[in-house]
Amino acid sequence: MLEIQDLKKRFGDTVALDGVSLSAEPGEVVGFVGANGAGKTTTMRIAMGVLATDEGRALWNGSPLLPGKTVRVGYMPEERGLYPKMKVGEQIAYFGELHGMSRAEAKRSSADLLEQLDLTDRADDHVQDLSLGNQQRVQLAVSLVHDPELLILDEPFSGLDPLAVDVMGTALKQRAVDGAPVLFSSHQLDLIERLCDSVAIIASGRIIASGTVTELKKRETRQLRVSVETAEDLTAALPGTVVRDGDDYLVEDADDQAVLQAAMGAGRVTHFAYDQPTIAEIFREAVAR
Ligand SMILES: Nc1ncnc2c1ncn2[C@@H]1O[C@H](COP(=O)(O)OP(=O)(O)O)[C@@H](O)[C@H]1O
Ligand SMILES: [Mg+2]
Repeated sequence: MLEIQDLKKRFGDTVALDGVSLSAEPGEVVGFVGANGAGKTTTMRIAMGVLATDEGRALWNGSPLLPGKTVRVGYMPEERGLYPKMKVGEQIAYFGELHGMSRAEAKRSSADLLEQLDLTDRADDHVQDLSLGNQQRVQLAVSLVHDPELLILDEPFSGLDPLAVDVMGTALKQRAVDGAPVLFSSHQLDLIERLCDSVAIIASGRIIASGTVTELKKRETRQLRVSVETAEDLTAALPGTVVRDGDDYLVEDADDQAVLQAAMGAGRVTHFAYDQPTIAEIFREAVAR
């Protein structure tokens, strides 16, 4: 597994990272969420060894993470780097060879990825002639060509149309199913909600919330939603702090069983459950704390 432990990094007077820790287990898609300037890119660069840390470390299965040495990492940097005049298929294979694959292996892997990312009919086009979304798919192919054991992707979804988002999302999920931890940064919270098993929320160089999506939702859940078939207004009849939401009642600060009993006493209860917050709501609350 990937473990990032207590990274600290300054650029002059700017504290970019102030003790960042996070982890990603095999098979897990982890969303790294935060506003611009929160420290996502810096964290990923340090993990990849392209930037030195002031303090802390990145580990792969308990030993120092050394990309290309202790682990094959698929990395999509923030600044995209493709050769605009090279053909798509050749380019992907070329990066495979740079990672030490034989020419035949690299070509086979390139062909597989073109297929998977729906790019087969663009294989002989020059990269510069592709749409931005398709260039991004090539960028993903380049980071996957050498069959990485770990994926670290910086904003892989930025600038993609919904179709490309789906293709990319499926490709990442598949890598996770195949056993690789997948860490990707994004500020698109709907995507995080759809794709991630876990989330790490960063603000001003600190992780302010992290855990599995299920855990985070449970932890942030305190509001009961109750629907009762009755003509009566139950705002005063239910225990706790009660507000109406359409035909429903939202109840806080009350014993749920007492609420249920009161509701059943008033009429037929058709809905009784804690509302689950969205990742967007969890993010907003964590940032506001
Ligand atoms: N090379 C650099 N020199 C100076 N400041 C930097 C450098 N890289 C990042 N920073 C600063 O560090 C903070 C975190 O940046 P970054 O990691 O790029 O955030 P994110 O990727 O979440 O948008 C920001 O305040 C940014 O301005
Ligand atoms: Mg960034």
